[in-house]
Amino acid sequence: MRLAQRMGALRPSLTIGLNAKARALRAQGIRFYNLAAGEPGPPTPPAIVQEAMATLATGHVYYSVAGGTAELRQAIAAKYKRENQLDYSQDEVVCGCGAKELLLHSFMAMLNRGDEVILLAPYWVSYLEQSKICEAKAVIVPYDAQQPLPSPEQLERFATPRTRAIVLNFPNNPTGHVPSRAAYEALGAYLQRKDWWIISDEIYEYTVFNAERRHYSILNLCPQLREQTLIVNGLSKSFAMTGWRVGYALGNKDIVANIKKLQSHSTTCLPSFTEKAAIFAITQGRPLVQPMIDAIETKLQKTQQLLRDTLPELTFTPSQGAFYIFPQLPTWLARTSYPTALAFSEWLLEKHKVIVVPGESFGVDGHLRLSCTASEAHVQQALAWLAKGLQELKATA
Ligand SMILES: Cc1ncc(COP(=O)(O)O)c(C=O)c1O
Repeated sequence: MRLAQRMGALRPSLTIGLNAKARALRAQGIRFYNLAAGEPGPPTPPAIVQEAMATLATGHVYYSVAGGTAELRQAIAAKYKRENQLDYSQDEVVCGCGAKELLLHSFMAMLNRGDEVILLAPYWVSYLEQSKICEAKAVIVPYDAQQPLPSPEQLERFATPRTRAIVLNFPNNPTGHVPSRAAYEALGAYLQRKDWWIISDEIYEYTVFNAERRHYSILNLCPQLREQTLIVNGLSKSFAMTGWRVGYALGNKDIVANIKKLQSHSTTCLPSFTEKAAIFAITQGRPLVQPMIDAIETKLQKTQQLLRDTLPELTFTPSQGAFYIFPQLPTWLARTSYPTALAFSEWLLEKHKVIVVPGESFGVDGHLRLSCTASEAHVQQALAWLAKGLQELKATA
């Protein structure tokens, strides 16, 4: 039996694979240190859990509607007005089973075979694979740690007549980068001259730790881009609801209706009881999770300080958001038996039971993504083993 050709190029998600490894180690009772988690840390706030349980108890267990109930879409539109100063009507909102599903469906709705989509490295793992599912071509803009958001001149070098879309993700996974207003405005002015879709993945919007401490959507700075922009967001990171699978997108009615159509033939709808809990979470908004956000900021700052103090060989641009740090591995690693970030991370897991995400997952070798949301003691231990591992390898370089 033959599989479809597109499956040949498709790779499974490395981050999900690492999670599975962590589970397997736990099941075997093996002690390990996990710096790979894409989770904000604490469990979902109890009030949200109670809302879901109460909903289940009333027998709310049937199919819901494709794209999310009107009540949920209304709550999202109201959130965008209240917290983001952006106006959307409920039929410009579509909900899905996680931001991941909405991203896939938006790619499917926007890209034909052979079309090009611009990704800025380091890019989130699934953008590349999702573009392959659509048989589109991802054009990767290389990473420049000094200037993570490329200038219009740099971007123009990657634009072709086949370019159909660009994906932005700020605060960024894995660098934690948040662009300055000026950089965003320059990008916006450039994109206004292009007939490209802009997918703006803003899933880490609550965790912004730069001086202004506020998240700007590209649409706040360049409202003229509204018709060509799809904002993608969700509750996974902002409300610690990764397992609930609630994502949403806001854009023009046409794109939203087409995403809904795709969902009606794939996952059908969100789990109906999570919709009720999502309405509760979104309506309560930021105050419900502010302690968690404050804790993430403290952990991020402490982890960065610990890195500077104990692992000076890992250089990094300070993270301003999300909950990741993206340090560069020392160049001498290339002279060891584990010369790439992938080889090194596999060795580190095998030898010292520390799980980190290699930069290759995000299209950038020579880097690691470190997540800082575990307990301080856990992060401290993990970094101590990471330092020991590097020392051991340095002796062989
Ligand atoms: C940048 C980015 N976008 C989207 C997602 C997907 O989130 P969800 O859990 O809503 O599918 C993630 C999850 O890690 C992410 O890091």
